[in-house]
Amino acid sequence: MPRIDRRTFVGQSLAAAGVMTFGTGATRPIASNDKIGVSVVGAGGRGGSHINAWLKDSRTEILYVVDVDENAGNRRCDMIAGEQGKRPTFVTDMRRTFDDKSVNAVSTATPNHWHALCGVWAMQAGKDAYIEKPICHNIAEGSALIAASKKYQRVCQTGTQCRSSSAIQNAVKFMSEGGIGDVKFARGLCYKRRKSIGSLGDYPIPGEVDFNLWSGPAQYSDPRNTRGRFHYDWHWQRRYGNGDSGNQGPHQTDIARWGLGIDSHPVSVVSYGGRIGYQAERKDPNYVDAGDTANTQVSIYDYGDKCIVFETRGLEVKASADDELNRLFDSSKGNKIGVVFYGSDGFLVQRSYTHCEAFDKNFQPIKTFKGSGNHFGNFLDVCESRKMDDLNADAREGHLSAGLSHLGNISYYLGEDNKVSAEQAAETLKDIKSLDDNGKTLGRTIRHLEDNNVDLSKYPISMGPHLKFDPNKEIFPDSPTATEMVTRNYREGFACPKAADV
Ligand SMILES: NC(=O)c1ccc[n+]([C@@H]2O[C@H](COP(=O)([O-])OP(=O)(O)OC[C@H]3O[C@@H](n4cnc5c(N)ncnc54)[C@H](O)[C@@H]3O)[C@@H](O)[C@H]2O)c1
Repeated sequence: MPRIDRRTFVGQSLAAAGVMTFGTGATRPIASNDKIGVSVVGAGGRGGSHINAWLKDSRTEILYVVDVDENAGNRRCDMIAGEQGKRPTFVTDMRRTFDDKSVNAVSTATPNHWHALCGVWAMQAGKDAYIEKPICHNIAEGSALIAASKKYQRVCQTGTQCRSSSAIQNAVKFMSEGGIGDVKFARGLCYKRRKSIGSLGDYPIPGEVDFNLWSGPAQYSDPRNTRGRFHYDWHWQRRYGNGDSGNQGPHQTDIARWGLGIDSHPVSVVSYGGRIGYQAERKDPNYVDAGDTANTQVSIYDYGDKCIVFETRGLEVKASADDELNRLFDSSKGNKIGVVFYGSDGFLVQRSYTHCEAFDKNFQPIKTFKGSGNHFGNFLDVCESRKMDDLNADAREGHLSAGLSHLGNISYYLGEDNKVSAEQAAETLKDIKSLDDNGKTLGRTIRHLEDNNVDLSKYPISMGPHLKFDPNKEIFPDSPTATEMVTRNYREGFACPKAADV
């Protein structure tokens, strides 16, 4: 496909898309029939959930499936044909569907490094966009999405479906009405076992995959695939994914931020951890896993008067590692992922998408919240009504929550070579302002590693620098190196524009 100049493309596409401009600048796409025409971009595991959601909602028709893997895309098209009675068109390049005026909405479940560019291109072409979490691969991309949504008056929903769960909505409301007193601190937890993804190597690129399009905005110095399983395991390679802090994290940090009523980036961050335990798991001291994101990580976000801590544990979690938390979040009883809010009068725990529970100070349950929701439906409601305030997870919410994983990872990546003992880590954390007991959290993390037979003298954790962040300018005032990591170098033809240039 010839390279398209985006400004020309936008002009042509808005005209071609039959977009009407109203007095306020708000626009409404005109569908070719009375249905919302959808292009699903990325038809892997999560793309399948998008497809199922659109199939279930009579307001939509899936017009396109886009995947750079021919087999994955065609399989989905066959399935949709059976359900929808009409086979969508399969294409490998998303830009072809942005050119089609009958497409009103784009839903994207590509790997993370593609999310923002896909969303910006879609909105520039006049489409509404449902973008999976994390909606961006770096902080600058998140700002670009907000700008595009505003400039083109497009609906931009972040795929953090917990925002539409009635259990969590009601629990957040309960807290905002003082249900557990004054709440200033929340801990997000991702205790999700992640085994090694296999050794770092030079693996064939599957013949059915267009690797140029798959790589898109992500730099590669030579076209190699260094992981054994091509799909999904990109999550653990930082060029494409963001580790579990950017995979599971954006759900829990989003709930934490929402529950605490925080509407900005933090003013500082520090993160520590490592990709640890796989040498023992493989019984090979020299084993090098193909992933380069942390599987064990603690990030501390300071908002001045409030604080969020996010903990990732990829090794086996035993209840013994979590004695302090066990009364609220007992891992031995299956609590592996969630958020714990600490209030002056009690606690509130998010246990799942459909379940939250409040406790008094003595750990006695006081209220249970149950219920689900329809996040895809909320997106379609707003596509129809154009009442942007009704959207449950707009680009700004997505950006601020994805931003937490990016900030944590910037500190972690910058400190990767700063290997420290548990004592040295404790010494560093003593001086870092936080509403958590930094020493206790570190202690539980170290105990967890030891429980998993990690020899910390051979495989120590890394301690990232404590970085000040300017939440408005989105720069690290004391670290030009960290500020460089707010964006990335893009491949020609796949650059995500800056917010000012969308
Ligand atoms: N909201 C949730 O609960 C939830 C759950 C799972 C995954 N996700 C998110 O969904 C995204 C996809 O995850 P997954 O597990 O399905 O990954 P996956 O690797 O299984 O699937 C990604 C698919 O996208 C395709 N793809 C890659 N580049 C593309 C491009 N340029 N155009 C079109 N298709 C392209 C791949 O070929 C693959 O089929 C991730 O960002 C993940 O964070 C969200």
